[in-house]
Order: sequence, then structure tokens, then C-alpha cells
Amino acid sequence: MSYPYKIGSKEAYQAAWKRSVEDPEGFWADVAGNFDWKKRWDKVLDWNFTEPNVKWFVGGKLNVTENCLDRHLVERGDEAAIIWEPNNPKEQYRTLSYTELHAEVCRFANVLKNNGVRKGDRVCIYMGMVPELAIAVLACARIGAIHSVIFGGFSAKSIADRLVDAQAEYIVTADGAYRGAKDIPLKSVIDDALDQVDIVKKVIVLLRTKTPVSMIKNRDVWWADEMARADAACPAEVMDAEDPLFILYTSGSTGKPKGVVHSSGGYMVYAAYSFVNVFQYEPAQIHFCTADIGWITGHSYIVYGPLCAGATVMMFEGIPTWPDAGRFWDIVDKHKVNILYTAPTAIRSLMAYGTEWVDKHDLSSLRILGSVGEPINEEAWHWFDKHVGKGKCPIVDTWWQTETGGIMISNLAGVTPAKPSFATLPLPGVQPVLMDEKGNEIEGNDVSGNLCIKFPWPSIIRTTYGDHERCRANYFAAYPNYYFTGDGCYMDVDGNYRITGRVDDVLNVSGHRIGTAEVENAINMHEGVVESAVVGYPHDLKGQGIYAYVIHDNTHDEELTRQDILQTVARIIGPIAKPDKIQFVKGLPKTRSGKIMRRILRKIAEGDMSNMGDTTTLLDPQVVDDIKEGKL
Ligand code: WTA
Repeated sequence: MSYPYKIGSKEAYQAAWKRSVEDPEGFWADVAGNFDWKKRWDKVLDWNFTEPNVKWFVGGKLNVTENCLDRHLVERGDEAAIIWEPNNPKEQYRTLSYTELHAEVCRFANVLKNNGVRKGDRVCIYMGMVPELAIAVLACARIGAIHSVIFGGFSAKSIADRLVDAQAEYIVTADGAYRGAKDIPLKSVIDDALDQVDIVKKVIVLLRTKTPVSMIKNRDVWWADEMARADAACPAEVMDAEDPLFILYTSGSTGKPKGVVHSSGGYMVYAAYSFVNVFQYEPAQIHFCTADIGWITGHSYIVYGPLCAGATVMMFEGIPTWPDAGRFWDIVDKHKVNILYTAPTAIRSLMAYGTEWVDKHDLSSLRILGSVGEPINEEAWHWFDKHVGKGKCPIVDTWWQTETGGIMISNLAGVTPAKPSFATLPLPGVQPVLMDEKGNEIEGNDVSGNLCIKFPWPSIIRTTYGDHERCRANYFAAYPNYYFTGDGCYMDVDGNYRITGRVDDVLNVSGHRIGTAEVENAINMHEGVVESAVVGYPHDLKGQGIYAYVIHDNTHDEELTRQDILQTVARIIGPIAKPDKIQFVKGLPKTRSGKIMRRILRKIAEGDMSNMGDTTTLLDPQVVDDIKEGKL
């Protein structure tokens, strides 16, 4: 397979970026022309950022799975699409060729149909990292159903909220999932969710861990039984370029997580384009993205981007530290991985185990390394470079978001230069700008501001499911006619972008997005809690930790109350949202209008007790001293 849209030199990068700004429609038409369309588009782009209303490849018809699967069958049908490494290294790994993956997807697409799923229906997928997860995702796309994958760490309550929000009537899950030494009872979590929701008609259950499950008559069916009676052939549904491909829930600064909606045509084109360019993918290379498919990184760089490019992806069920801290390196060695795309939090946690785990394995197959999800600190960058890349693998630091669908700012591996802790330059087609507090674009270099994007790209968020106003208010209202990312950013003298972190009330804990409001709501549901305020603080491994200030009416046994609150948060959201620290306080620093001054709470959580800034507007300045004294 060749990639005519691959940018192979610095000069070509500059020329492509310039063209993408001067003639965006021509630029993207050329890229999109390399995919299989059932009908070519009538118009490349229609847009405004006020409603917002963005449409790419208007009138175009396609099916994403024909691009991910069918078109590879003739030339590379026997080549590996997915190599799957199980949680337990002693279990046999599996390889699915493109022909095999295509067959499984078509058959499972028929299973979905046999169980009543139709085009446009929402299907919730709650599974571990097994090939059947990718198969379920693609089977939805095959028949035009909209998948909504929920990460296996979310609680029953979180699942219930998402099912209702998406009005999802179908679920695909497994009896359980292996993660390191743990066995997570997925079906039982789903059952708890379904005690709270009555819209679900069918649950398809994959057997994986042999955990006992309750199967409800007429509602729950086994994956294998259904596959055995399904037809092999499944024609791909003809989809409009703008038909939704999937919903993925993500946290914002207010309220409950919102369902980010991505389109079929634009998302697919951008996922493949960014994959090939950022990683400078060469046919037959093995690409290992360590993210879970429950997050956007797994959607775009395990499933859609690589498969659309006919790549071989490595999919891993387990965790980096089990059975030992050498597991990633063992996988790289065993399968001769060429590209490793992971998160700073994983790098930092492995650093702590020392280099002997890395040195034990042969990593000479590695060509390119990638980082995603949070700012990578220089120490982690250099460790990754020296001990994993042996100083010879370009590192791409890729900045993007669930809402952007694909990588927006990153060096192109080996083509444009890296700079530790900088995402560096926008991909051609991406027009970032920094904004000042007054809402003006900041000109020139060596400046800081809030990061916005001023022109649409094909995989931009289309809406938040069921509530378009929320999409407008969240992303397009802060700066009229710009997409606002929620991130702060510094640009160096050479024009390289460095993402400095969120400027809103969104935390980034181990690369997972969590809203402070969400955690507060969960804490506030706990018996005896009067009020709470949650902020982030710098955490050596996780990037950010969660610090909760809690007013509780009875803390006779502080430790027990603390454990109980953690349990409540785990039940309401999931274990990933558990605060690292809970400090019981008598009051919170509030202004006379009742607003909590989080700035002060953040400083105390960071351990910076010096200058608290202007506290004269506080209703009761004394609370600040009390909180300082009780700091954990
Ligand atoms: C942060 C993950 C610095 C950022 C793909 C963004 C990063 C949020 C980077 C999106 C990076 C992601 N450098 N920060 N390379 N990549 N972020 O939606 O704050 O889970 O807004 O998407 O992660 O997180 P999300």
C-alpha cells in the first residue's frame, strides 16, 4: 500500500502546511481521494463556528469498514491486521489477518442485526482489550450502528448514565476482563447498571474469564452461540460522510461527561492521514499503541487510523507492570514491534523500576516512539529516548483531544525536529492560535496564551450527543469563531508549541480526563458530606493527583470516613476518580457571592503556602489559615 498523502521531508511539510491554509479544500480533497468512496462528495467543506455546523465531504457516501478491511483483502489479505498479546504471557497470542478480521467483523455484524440492531442505533461496548472489542467496534460501523465504547474501569452508575444519555438499547460485553493480577467482572457491573436502566433490549456476552455470570432469559445471549448461527457475508451499509460513526464520553469542566460525536468520512480521513504522517508509517511495520480502546487514542490509533492504512497493530490486554515491570519490553522483543505509542504516566511508572527491566530485552526492532495524553516532563522524555529508543528513535509528542479525533500538534517522526516537552508544530491542515484574556489572537513568538483552533479540520467534534447547545457553549463560546481547546500553551521563539495543561476545571490524572465537578458531585453523595471542593496538584507518577477538601458533619473516625468516601467515588464514577488526598475542613474559601476560590485551594494542595494573593473578597479569610494548618 502506498500513501500519496505522506509528507516525507521538512520542505514538503512546510509546503503542505502552507497549501492547507491557502487552499484547505483542495488540500483535503487530495488526501480524501486516496480512500474508497461509494460516491464522491459534492462539496469538500461547509462550516461555521457559531452554531457550530461543520460538514466535510458533503454528499460523499462510504463505509468506513470497507476502507479498514475490504480494500486490503486482495493485496494484503494474509497479512496481520491485529496481533493480540494476552494479559498472561503464558497464554498463546493470536494473530488475525485482514481476511480473518474481515470475516469476523462481517459475521458479528450479522449477530448485531439478528439481535435487532439497525442503522443509527446506539450500541454500548464494555469489554477488556480482546480482539473481539475491535471486532464489535467495526461490526457496528459495518451496519451503520453508532458505537459508544466505555472504558472497563467505569462503574455501573457511570455506565447507566451513559446508556440513558445515548439511549443505547444494545450492549456488547464479556463475562470479565483480565488486567494484571485482577479479574474484573464486567458482566456483573453491567447487570448493576441495568438494575437502574430499563431501555436495554439485548446484551451480547463474550466468554473470556469464565467468571460466573447471570444470564437473563430473552435479554442476554452468548457471543459464540450467536456467531455460530450468523451468516458470513454482510454487505457494508452505505453511510453519508456526515453520519455519526461513534460517541465517546469525556469529562468537561461542568456537569456529567458529554458524548462527543464523530462523523464517518472526516474522522476516517483524518485518523488515517495523521497516523501515516506522525508515525511515518511504512507498510508491514508493527505499531503498538498501549492505550485502551475505551479512550480516543485507542479508537484512532489502534482501530481506525492504522487499519485504514492497512497497518499491523499490536493489541495488548494487560498492564505494563504485570507479571513484572518488563512486560512492555517483553512484548516489543517477542513481536518485534517497530512503533511504540504510549503515555507519560506509563513511562514515569516504569522509570521508577529502574533500567534493568528494559536492558534485559532486545528492543532493536523499535524505530519510532510516541507520547500522548499529558505533558511529558523532560526527565521522562530523556529516559524514553535513552533507555527505550537507545538514542536512535525519533520521539513524537502528540497533542490532541477526544474532541479533535486525531493528532493535531506533533512533530512528524524523523521529518520535523523534536524538542523535549514540546508537541512542536501543527499537522498540515491544523491552524492553532494563542489567545489573550481579551479574546485577541496573540501575534509573534515566545508568547503564552489559551490554545484555540481557527479553522475546521476533518475530524473535529460535530456535536455532543443529544445536546448541541452544550457543544457550542463548551467549545465555541469562549472565543467567538474559534474552537477553544481548554488548554494553556506556550510558543517558543521558533514557533514550537508546548502545551502547559488545562486552564479549566478538568484534571488529567494518569492521562485520564476527569472533571473536578464530577468528583465533587460523587463526594457530595456520600452520607454526612456537607460540601466539597476538588483541585489537582502535581503528582510524580500520575502527572496530576486529585486533592479533595471535604466538609463532613461527623469525622470522629477520620480514616474510616476517608475510606468510605473513596468507596463512594469508586461506585459513582470508577476507581480512576478516587481522590489521592482528602482533607477534612470546617469551611471552604468562598467569596461573598458564594463562589469557591479554587486558586487558593490549588496553592495549598501544591504545598505553596506563601502568597495567597488577594483574599479580601473572601467572606471569611480565617478559613484559609485553618485549611493551611490542616494540610496533608
Ligand atoms: C492533554 C487524549 C500535553 C491536554 C488524546 C488535552 C496533552 C487532554 C497531550 C485531552 C500532549 C493530550 N501534551 N498535553 N502531547 N496530549 N494532552 O481527550 O490537556 O483524553 O486537552 O485525549 O489531554 O485528553 P483526551
